Amino acid sequence: MDDATTRKIDGVIARRGTGTGCIAILQDIQRELGYVPVEAMERVAEETEIKATQIWGVATFYTQFRFEPPGRHRIRVCLGTACHVRGASEVMKRIEKDLDVRSGRTTADGRFTLEEVRCLGACALAPVITIDGNYHPKVTPRGVKRILKRYP
Ligand code: FES
Repeated sequence: MDDATTRKIDGVIARRGTGTGCIAILQDIQRELGYVPVEAMERVAEETEIKATQIWGVATFYTQFRFEPPGRHRIRVCLGTACHVRGASEVMKRIEKDLDVRSGRTTADGRFTLEEVRCLGACALAPVITIDGNYHPKVTPRGVKRILKRYP
């Protein structure tokens, strides 16, 4: 972990205070760094009263935390009810296959991070995905490749 990263983590701990629960600290670290590296959890353990095993347990329990750097583009595939009944699972499978990546992970080239969500608030446009916050409505498995090309 470089000095700048360590400073960011220490800054989060200083702002939150050592008496805070670790969820808020981990959320802030993820906001700052885009993910929560193992070294960050060790640093939190060093600087607070919280044991490293406890921090790891919390971090892995909540699916909101990422443990690897995010890709350049963030794909969110909605698997909520409205999207599910209109074929979202097939869209997800196609994206996983085309990018050779599983949900929750980042492609080997660092281009995309793939995530699943339960509703993107655009059910009338189902199935929906977002990439970097841009909504792509009524996505089909065949249309996936064309959409992904727009995000080099
Ligand atoms: S269920 Fe997919 S946008 Fe609401």
